[in-house]
Amino acid sequence: MHHGPDLPETPYENVAVTGGAGFVGRHLVTALSLLSQKVTVVDHAPLPRELAALPGVSYIRADLRDYGETLLALQNADAVFHLAGNASGTESVAHPRHDFHLNALGTCNVGNACLELGVRRLVYLSSAIVYGTPLQSPIREDHPTQPFLPYGASKLSGELTLRSLHATAGLPVVIGRSFVVYGPGEDPRRAGGEVSQFLRWHLNEQPIPVVGDIDLKRRDFIHVEDLCRAMMTLAGRGADGEIYNLATGTAVSMRELAEAVGTATGRPALLDADTSSLADSFTLLADVTRLRGLGFAPRVTLAEGLTGLADLLGPFPEIPSARAVFRREPPGGRRMTLTAAVGAGEEARTC
Ligand SMILES: NC(=O)c1ccc[n+]([C@@H]2O[C@H](COP(=O)([O-])OP(=O)(O)OC[C@H]3O[C@@H](n4cnc5c(N)ncnc54)[C@H](O)[C@@H]3O)[C@@H](O)[C@H]2O)c1
Repeated sequence: MHHGPDLPETPYENVAVTGGAGFVGRHLVTALSLLSQKVTVVDHAPLPRELAALPGVSYIRADLRDYGETLLALQNADAVFHLAGNASGTESVAHPRHDFHLNALGTCNVGNACLELGVRRLVYLSSAIVYGTPLQSPIREDHPTQPFLPYGASKLSGELTLRSLHATAGLPVVIGRSFVVYGPGEDPRRAGGEVSQFLRWHLNEQPIPVVGDIDLKRRDFIHVEDLCRAMMTLAGRGADGEIYNLATGTAVSMRELAEAVGTATGRPALLDADTSSLADSFTLLADVTRLRGLGFAPRVTLAEGLTGLADLLGPFPEIPSARAVFRREPPGGRRMTLTAAVGAGEEARTC
């Protein structure tokens, strides 16, 4: 992680990061620690070793579905960055109840705990998934929200709950909707963003599989370090109860991404396009006027981000094993017997 020295100051001494053990969270904890802040990682996963070594970083294991654990974990925080939850749309399609508990219930618990504890600032990391299929691009924050995945519904539920706590009780919350994040540390076993997936296939000297139209499918990619700087900007300068798109404001097509991958690695990249589904062949581009209004500008260009990531991954990295799934198979004509098998269609989980 290469966070520069010019990180936005956040005027809080004790900061908690929920989901601090995850992909985005690790980068945020690292950046906050560089600012000499006391950072508490709140997560139900163990503290990653690289974070344990950082100055000022402590760890509280908590499951945010449990309100008592949430209260205990956040009790010393002046500011909370809430990142914990399910980040996988594919997971949410297979397990919507699990996704709802993590994202909607977990976020309600965090919001209410912040109110009861008198936390001075809550930053919630939401997602552009809440917009659903864009009616037009660039997408402004007042674009209709019509999510088509359970993940989008649960993230939107989190947003609406926090905004309702702002309206009814003055919760000092700021909401950021991240577009497609990329950078070091994404898990290739989960359906991740296109940037690292493209690189991984290409570094294995294989054609890059893409579902959809390679020119019509365009995304707004933001490097995870820029995303962290944007969230820190929201903590310091965002307006209470407001929503901000977190993105660069640049659309990149799948063809252009493949070209940039070729440039970063010095070897042209081949695309293997499957046009049987055009469901997500649209432009997902943010209007970033609001975020820029807070003085934020991205620092990492796609070319720089790709070169850095290619160096880190090295030759023949693990190939992405998950594919994005937007449809759940019907149960095959067999009805669940309710007396004995409530929840039996799902894996054994705590909720
Ligand atoms: N990765 C992306 O492309 C992306 C894009 C937009 C928004 N987001 C949002 O950013 C956030 C972080 O995403 P990520 O990619 O770092 O995901 P991640 O899965 O790598 O990290 C999530 C972390 O939250 C923790 N967590 C989940 N449920 C919890 C619970 N009930 N109690 C305590 N800890 C819990 C997990 O253990 C994990 O460490 C998510 O809220 C996601 O919706 C991510």
